[in-house]
Amino acid sequence: MKFFLDTADLNEIEEAASWGAIAGVTTNPSLYAKIGGRLDDFQSHIKRICDLIDGPVSAETVGTTRDEIVREGLELATIAPNVVVKVPTMVEGLAATRVLADKGIRVNMTLCFSVPQALLAARAGARYVSPFVGRFDDISEDGIEQLGGIATALSNYDFSSCGVDGESIEVIAASVRSANHVTQAALMGVDIATVPFGVLKKCVEHPLTTNGLARFMADWEKVKNA
Ligand code: G3P
Repeated sequence: MKFFLDTADLNEIEEAASWGAIAGVTTNPSLYAKIGGRLDDFQSHIKRICDLIDGPVSAETVGTTRDEIVREGLELATIAPNVVVKVPTMVEGLAATRVLADKGIRVNMTLCFSVPQALLAARAGARYVSPFVGRFDDISEDGIEQLGGIATALSNYDFSSCGVDGESIEVIAASVRSANHVTQAALMGVDIATVPFGVLKKCVEHPLTTNGLARFMADWEKVKNA
């Protein structure tokens, strides 16, 4: 499973990129607002992220009609070759995805909550589909089970003729809130997890690693003093 970072924070992206394990970044309007982002700086900000990451960078459209989404998507796609246009899963979003995919532009269909939505996204030519895990947990449903259903349903079919350049759709586990979500997604063979920086740090840590390191250090002191 590949790791994407779910953030618009350049410091987080820079640090996580230095760990050498991040394959892409996903952003959304909420994440951009969280860092105090301004509309007039949005495209430059996406460009800065694209310069930091050698992999797909999802930037979200906010239009609500096919034509608005297509116009925004075409504009976003000119920022850098690794921009992926993020489009909400809805009727106008599907229609826009088809237009963008036919023009060779990669789309990440977001806010996906069901198998039929994911299948339609794939048929419309999406390069990625992003089922939200945590949002299901928020309403006391099992987000991991929903994610598993979507991943299994998509793996039943060949969508390589639907999108760009014969590439198959990949599932991005999104709205990931814990290292356990990451574990469960990986055990189901999900292609990608996009994780907030805090969750990514928790994925690196383990109490036994911390204890083990302390023990090594203490014993190494003994070696040095022997
Ligand atoms: O990747 C989607 C994500 O940013 C939404 O996460 O925690 O707001 O459900 P959350």
